Amino acid sequence: MTKKQNMGKHNQKTKSLRKLFLLATLSLIVLFSFMFYACKKTNVVYLDELGAEHIISGWSEAKANKSIAGNPLTIAGQVFERGLGTHATSQYRIKLDGQAVKFHAVVGIDDEIKKNKRGAERASVEFIVSGRDKNNLKKTLWKSGVMKAGDPARKVNVSLKNLISLDLIVTDAEDGHAYDHADWCEARIEYRGNKPEPVKPYAAEPYILTPPPAPEPKINSPKVFGVRPGSPFLFTIAATGERPMTFAAEGLPRGLKLNSSTGRITGFVDKPGTYKVKLIAKNKLGKAEKTLRIEVGDKIALTPPMGWNSWNCWGCSVTDENVRQSARAMVEKGLINYGWTYINIDDCWHGQRDPKTGEIRSNEKFPDMKALADYVHSLGLKIGLYTDCGPKTCAGYEGSEGHEEQDIMTYAKWGYDYVKIDWCHCEGKDPRATYKIFGDAIKRAPRDIVFSICNWGLQNPWEWGESVGGNLWRTTGDIEDSWSSMAGIGFGQAGLSKYAGPGHWNDPDMLVVGKVGWGPQLRPSRLTPDEQYTHISLWCLLSAPLLIGCPIEQIDDFTLNLLTNAEVLEVDQDPLGRQGDRVTKGDDYEVWSKEMEDGSRAVGLFNLDPYEPKIVRVDFSTIGLENGPFRVRDLWRQKDLGNFSNYFEAEVAPHGVVLIRIFP
Ligand code: GLA
Repeated sequence: MTKKQNMGKHNQKTKSLRKLFLLATLSLIVLFSFMFYACKKTNVVYLDELGAEHIISGWSEAKANKSIAGNPLTIAGQVFERGLGTHATSQYRIKLDGQAVKFHAVVGIDDEIKKNKRGAERASVEFIVSGRDKNNLKKTLWKSGVMKAGDPARKVNVSLKNLISLDLIVTDAEDGHAYDHADWCEARIEYRGNKPEPVKPYAAEPYILTPPPAPEPKINSPKVFGVRPGSPFLFTIAATGERPMTFAAEGLPRGLKLNSSTGRITGFVDKPGTYKVKLIAKNKLGKAEKTLRIEVGDKIALTPPMGWNSWNCWGCSVTDENVRQSARAMVEKGLINYGWTYINIDDCWHGQRDPKTGEIRSNEKFPDMKALADYVHSLGLKIGLYTDCGPKTCAGYEGSEGHEEQDIMTYAKWGYDYVKIDWCHCEGKDPRATYKIFGDAIKRAPRDIVFSICNWGLQNPWEWGESVGGNLWRTTGDIEDSWSSMAGIGFGQAGLSKYAGPGHWNDPDMLVVGKVGWGPQLRPSRLTPDEQYTHISLWCLLSAPLLIGCPIEQIDDFTLNLLTNAEVLEVDQDPLGRQGDRVTKGDDYEVWSKEMEDGSRAVGLFNLDPYEPKIVRVDFSTIGLENGPFRVRDLWRQKDLGNFSNYFEAEVAPHGVVLIRIFP
């Protein structure tokens, strides 16, 4: 074989080897791509498989494969087997890993609300799908626009490329959340990497911020008190500190006397005028003084009423004994020492009218309304009750229609100090004229009766409530123990501050802390501890009437801590009576400020994000404070934080608050 032949053979060999190598590489590439593809193949998770436990729902609890009320998911006649039933305002965060592909769903208002006429008219929501990328930047992916009851379902198909979380949101379309039953049907995520996981909203264990009261005397009563000339006077000096304690009052107007061991001032003052009285509280450790301005004139409730109401706990099951127990506990647990005063019976005490005189009587659960009032007064507290403008109350008991003046006079005869007048069965009446009948009667009554208008904000009672004699008026529908309800109402008060002042208050409804239930079965409030701090802080900034809605005798330490912080309550009870208002609103935070009589500002830094803490900042120029530095005090902790110029910022817990007071 020649050398040339040999070379040719060698070349051929190399060529076929190369071919083989190429083929092998190609097959490997195909194999690897196949394997890669196989690993990365798209999976699908239906959101109902993840459960509904971590969905934030504005009412009740969200459900998998059922509507919020537990019926088959149904939108405009179309029934869906799979999906999530929730209620506005609702939020659901799902963790992704950047490799999720798509989100699909069919959304709408559930047909179940059409069974109710008001529901069919009032339900409206907006579905929003948004996500966050690796830099935590929020992107809105899809919006349904406003959807109403009966609207055909709308389809969502959005890409989830590069997102690390997905948020499914249902808003109340800015008209309140009543009847907003919202369905995410056939909701599913296509993904390649890790399976999407629900994110749990943040909920701390209950934590106590209010320091225990000092053993030395401290007077916590508001600085001003109004009474009409000749009306029976009852003012209990609210003071913390070790007992025994003795009280004194210098400069009391003629007609008043003080019981030095109970601290109760009673009597009658005939002469109108302003009286400055020095209150003194003494125990073995020291002495406290405070000036009380007594205004004898035509105005009462010069600071927002503080007390208890039976509705949010006992609902219609309330009895005389429930009322007595809360009254007793108000004293025994020391709440009276912080200014808590009124014990109010809500709906369901009425019986039949006397067939001859038409006078109202109580039902068998309330054997003797006068005896009950006497008992509550004997504790140094005041007592209130409830009625309705219509022929029946909301719960179907005897209303006051046609007996307005007579009923007010009966309440006065029994010794009641407060009346809440509801608006059920009053459709078609003019609220202003209707409430004026009661207001006029209250003016003629032989005792001071705080007049609470409860028509749920219909026809803007803040514009006429005071002129018909109202001391407070509900600005919204009924509160519930959900973030959506509480925050919706509370933050929804923005802009109403100009209508409030001493003797006339906006009422964002009663407190939902402690045990609630609206009936015999009670449960702890569904608000998280941070949400409860937000609730009390916001209500105090709003100069809101503070009516505790839980049985006081069952109160736990955390709830007691919320209701006995003298520096926080002082914000509510400030004698200037200027309601706070919103200063700044961000995507997920708000800053509210309230001007205090001494020129300081009470400021709430609120974090509206349910999942993550957030730094919230107040610029002093936005709350009318120039030329710092200013002393900043944390009111819940009752601790100075230092002096700050220009601004203050703090990290705020999810759905929580930092409540500060800034002193010029
Ligand atoms: C209405 C009121 C509530 C409560 C109930 C009683 O709903 O708004 O605060 O008084 O009636 O039935």
